[in-house]
Amino acid sequence: MSSVLKVTDLTKDFGGLRAIDNVSFEVGKGEFVGLIGPNGCGKTTTFNCISGLLEPSKGEVEVFEKNATVLRPDEIQKLGLTRTFQHTRLWREMTTIENLLIPPRNQFGDNPLTAIMSYFFRDEERERLVKAYDTLAELEISHMAHNLTSELSGGQSKLVDIGRALMGEPDLLLLDEPVAGVAGPLAEKIFNNLRSIVSKKGISIFVIEHNMDFILRRGVDRIIVMDQGKVLMQGTPDEVKDSKEVIEAYLGAAA
Ligand SMILES: Nc1ncnc2c1ncn2[C@@H]1O[C@H](COP(=O)(O)OP(=O)(O)OP(=O)(O)O)[C@@H](O)[C@H]1O
Ligand SMILES: [Mg+2]
Repeated sequence: MSSVLKVTDLTKDFGGLRAIDNVSFEVGKGEFVGLIGPNGCGKTTTFNCISGLLEPSKGEVEVFEKNATVLRPDEIQKLGLTRTFQHTRLWREMTTIENLLIPPRNQFGDNPLTAIMSYFFRDEERERLVKAYDTLAELEISHMAHNLTSELSGGQSKLVDIGRALMGEPDLLLLDEPVAGVAGPLAEKIFNNLRSIVSKKGISIFVIEHNMDFILRRGVDRIIVMDQGKVLMQGTPDEVKDSKEVIEAYLGAAA
């Protein structure tokens, strides 16, 4: 399997604090991979280094076999990588469909005014509108198209955020805790949707989740377990579930 993301010996220091420590792993094409670990173990920092928001202290990030370590977030986005943030970033004074028509923040041009204006003036933007409605249908949230996102629940907002990310047609999607604070059934639905997006579109999804029990049952292909800035282990959900190290370091601590 060819790899869409290759992280080699990645280290990030914040002053005296080593947030990630010599982390190495890969994500393959068409793979659905979970990144899990206790609060503060370095998951988001890893995403920030991959997506170009933070400069690694050491190590290398390759995205689609290109050295992304030296690239800006917008350049990494152009390679085909889109990410979401732990706290959803929606335009709360706009409707769901309008949110999908604006590119994600912090990645490329995200001026809401020009995005909306250009929709009225350009044919390709009409195609974009069709795509936005298709994306809502795919996520089963078409009925919310004309609701202001400030009216949506936390879980519904997470789905809109994923929809925005999908609008860029990424080949690799990084999601930072897409179901944090989302009630059980909706959280399951979100993961089921992700699984079917991976299968249907053949894209790769790399998802941070902090609940071990939850991720073990959600149909991911592989799980990378982090603890205190390091990769503790990686393997299939069954391998992770049976790992003595993980049980001791993670499940043991939670029990
Ligand atoms: N910009 C920053 N400046 C200084 N320290 C930071 C910064 N970002 C993260 N840290 C620290 O790095 C460590 C790893 O943080 P990170 O946010 O990556 O953890 P996480 O695994 O995503 O945790 P959570 O599950 O709570 O989201 C923590 O000790 C955190 O306080
Ligand atoms: Mg985090």
